[in-house]
Amino acid sequence: MDYQPLLERWREGDLARWAEVLPAQLEAGLSAARHGDLPRWLTVLDALPDIEVSTIHLDRARVGADAAHPLDTAAQDALRSTLMGLHPWRKGPFELFGVHIDTEWRSDWKWDRLAADIAPLAGRRVLDVGCGNGYHCWRMRGAGAAEVIGIDPTPLFAVQFWALQKYLQQPQVWLLPVGVEQVPEKLQAFDTVFSMGVLYHRRSPLDHLLALRDCLRPGGELVLETLVIEGGPGATLVPEGRYARMGNVWFLPSCPTLLGWLAKLGFTDAKVVAEAATTTDEQRATPWMTFHSLANFLHPDDPRLTVEGYPAPRRAVIVANAPGG
Ligand SMILES: C[S@@+](CC[C@H](N)C(=O)[O-])C[C@H]1O[C@@H](n2cnc3c(N)ncnc32)[C@H](O)[C@@H]1O
Repeated sequence: MDYQPLLERWREGDLARWAEVLPAQLEAGLSAARHGDLPRWLTVLDALPDIEVSTIHLDRARVGADAAHPLDTAAQDALRSTLMGLHPWRKGPFELFGVHIDTEWRSDWKWDRLAADIAPLAGRRVLDVGCGNGYHCWRMRGAGAAEVIGIDPTPLFAVQFWALQKYLQQPQVWLLPVGVEQVPEKLQAFDTVFSMGVLYHRRSPLDHLLALRDCLRPGGELVLETLVIEGGPGATLVPEGRYARMGNVWFLPSCPTLLGWLAKLGFTDAKVVAEAATTTDEQRATPWMTFHSLANFLHPDDPRLTVEGYPAPRRAVIVANAPGG
């Protein structure tokens, strides 16, 4: 997990401010004292075999790589069981040398819902806030982004990212183990900022949108994906306790409410490009994520509701431009 090349690249230019504080953030984000499982995950990372790569696939559903010399079944089994040491695999799918990492989420479906409706990524510097293990970061690079920075404070996802990076070998793609609140203020350095699956986890959603706006260069594009409810302007659900068994869900606005929030913060040209209920085909338990999944979070008598009786998960994608373009 060598971040030195990035620190050197950022030493000058509009990310220099971040480069100054990043070493301390990396140390805290990947501290074995704070994350007891980290040493075990790092052992898995070390155990991954060196394999000569022939082709890398960043622009198809199963992000992955082919081997110059195809692996036999025993080598595939060994690779599979090493990668299983990084369970649970939530975002994907991936395929490395014939080993299909069938993750909890079909994250490619989310990508397919938005890819045609965002500003072309070719040549852009992109930030993916709450990127998980970086599945969409690879897709962004596959769509031509010049530099992709994913941030996510969950250290297991950073280790999964580095396991993939060993084979995908993309010096333009990075995952930083930091939360959005650690990004220096008013960077205005990114052409596109993605926030997918994060807004509802934020206790102060308007502050989250402001922080995203401040990461964008004037006129840059925000791609926002979040849980929504059906309803008109002003409609918002603040679950009393848990929502779909998640304890940290704060605000689920309707799309018109969300568009109103964005307008109030100065975003322009905001539009909803996708809205759909999440299905148990898109989010489900698999051998790579054996814990409970969406089917267990829905009401046993009525799948239109969560177990708590709230409207079942429904997600929207909104694109908007930062002011000043
Ligand atoms: C529902 S997942 C979404 C992952 C991915 N963006 C996607 O859409 O598939 C939410 C992610 O946000 C991350 N997260 C939690 N708190 C965060 C914070 N303060 N800043 C950035 N990411 C955070 C979690 O670790 C998790 O990976």
